[in-house]
Amino acid sequence: MSTRNTMPGQRSLRWNLLLALSAAALAAIWFIDQNVLHFRNYDLATYTDYYWQRRQGLIPHILGGSVAILSGLVQLWLGLTGRIGALHRVLGKVYVSAIAVASCGAIYLAVTIPSLHFAYGAGLLFLAMAWIITTGMAVISIKKRALEQHREWMTRSYIVTFAFVTIRLVEKYLLRMHLAPDTEIDSFMAFASWAVPLLLAEPLIQWRRLARG
Ligand code: HEM
Repeated sequence: MSTRNTMPGQRSLRWNLLLALSAAALAAIWFIDQNVLHFRNYDLATYTDYYWQRRQGLIPHILGGSVAILSGLVQLWLGLTGRIGALHRVLGKVYVSAIAVASCGAIYLAVTIPSLHFAYGAGLLFLAMAWIITTGMAVISIKKRALEQHREWMTRSYIVTFAFVTIRLVEKYLLRMHLAPDTEIDSFMAFASWAVPLLLAEPLIQWRRLARG
């Protein structure tokens, strides 16, 4: 699709998309800087006991997660603006492979959380399931050449990919506000970080269909 021959409505949609993706890119860079990069120091002091015991799950998880979060941003821009050429296909394979690796790590990490923290672990385990299901549906729909469904499932997949960034962004404010004990806030965020954004995004996703009748 040409970018020059677009209607004014489409142009403003593109600007909104660009704004949303730029905000997401800033948040993703903040998250990687604060929560990921320090793990390049491969020692107990950096990983702490909490993660050192589980580093065989954590390392593939954060490598795959970082690739997914960055490639997904570019993919959404390309896909939602109709630029579905060779780059989109290559990055799509990168995104899905990264999630395959990262979600295995996520499942391992979720079921090995020390000192039985049931609701928090369950929330992250279901988040991993949501990651696999939404991304799997995006793959199945493109294999069946169902472009609209592919766009919708990719949007949901990326919302789920972004959930861990949402957790780390929002929880520090909730913790500071002392709304509930810290463990309750962790458990709440493990579910709310993906359930709430998916719920809010669904009317917007369906709106495109309704608008087209
Ligand atoms: C969306 C699906 C995801 C799931 C289900 C998931 C799951 C988990 C789990 C279970 C843990 C261990 C938590 C603990 O033991 O307290 C963890 C830690 C971590 N994850 Fe993920 N994660 C996801 C996405 C991501 C992404 C996209 C990144 C990007 C790099 C990422 C980066 C990290 C990092 C850096 C840690 C360790 C540091 C920390 O706790 O902040 N995760 N993740």
